[in-house]
Amino acid sequence: MKFFPKSSKSSTQAIPESAEIPQHIAVIMDGNGRWARKRFLPRVSGHKRGVEIVRDLVKQCAQMDVKFLTLFAFSSENWRRPDDEVSFLMGLFIEALKREVIKLHDNNIRLVLIGDRSRFNADLVAQIESSEQLTANNTGLTLSIAANYGGRWDILQATNKMIKELPAKQGVFTEEDMAPYLSMHYAPEPDLFIRTGGEKRVSNFLLWQLAYTELYFTDTLWPDFDSKAFTAAISSYKQRERRFGRTSEQLTAGN
Ligand code: IPE
Ligand code: IPE
Ligand code: MG
Repeated sequence: MKFFPKSSKSSTQAIPESAEIPQHIAVIMDGNGRWARKRFLPRVSGHKRGVEIVRDLVKQCAQMDVKFLTLFAFSSENWRRPDDEVSFLMGLFIEALKREVIKLHDNNIRLVLIGDRSRFNADLVAQIESSEQLTANNTGLTLSIAANYGGRWDILQATNKMIKELPAKQGVFTEEDMAPYLSMHYAPEPDLFIRTGGEKRVSNFLLWQLAYTELYFTDTLWPDFDSKAFTAAISSYKQRERRFGRTSEQLTAGN
């Protein structure tokens, strides 16, 4: 286990600071298949184009001084897809890691993978581990890739570890007890969630962590999610009033 500084407090336990620019952005990159179908291309060409969009978004986030970018690359339910698509996605993932990790490192970006690695082949696990190790001490953007990730899996694995490691609590736990065992323990909760591709659902992404996140849904398909589309998401975020349970009047009074 790597060392991570303690993250900010839970949004349900203490009111977080709201910054102009979201400190943590979490994205469901959806619509690759439909983008390809519209062009009479195989679904996989949408995934390929999707990787290029990831590269552009990472660059923009680093420039804007966003601290955490978390991307949903493969869900625990995506194994249900046809075998050839699953193998293509795994191949694309390992290729992209190999190709991009040096560039990430040169740009002071820390790479972290969240999700259950037990179903990945040894090659992919080795590539993930070496990429994480190489970039572990970088202090710029933290890029988290959620692969074979599911929000329910995350809550359950955290609960199981906590029960095992804290027997003195006799089964009575607080949010603070749970926090270090969750996959994203090193990051504040997302300020902004973006889902491309038109669906209005969370698809088992960060269920615990999205408690007070601002949600943004766009019909733009992921391979079309360019800097203009990203700027529109940021502008929408800037117009939100983050109340965390309080009234609007309390906010204007500065409480
Ligand atoms: C998102 O695009 C990528 C992954 C889930 C890996 P999709 O492949 O889900 O694209 P659509 O939703 O079928 O268009
Ligand atoms: C969510 O997209 C997962 C990823 C983007 C990795 P899906 O395309 O798998 O979501 P559903 O199945 O439409 O909910
Ligand atoms: Mg989809």
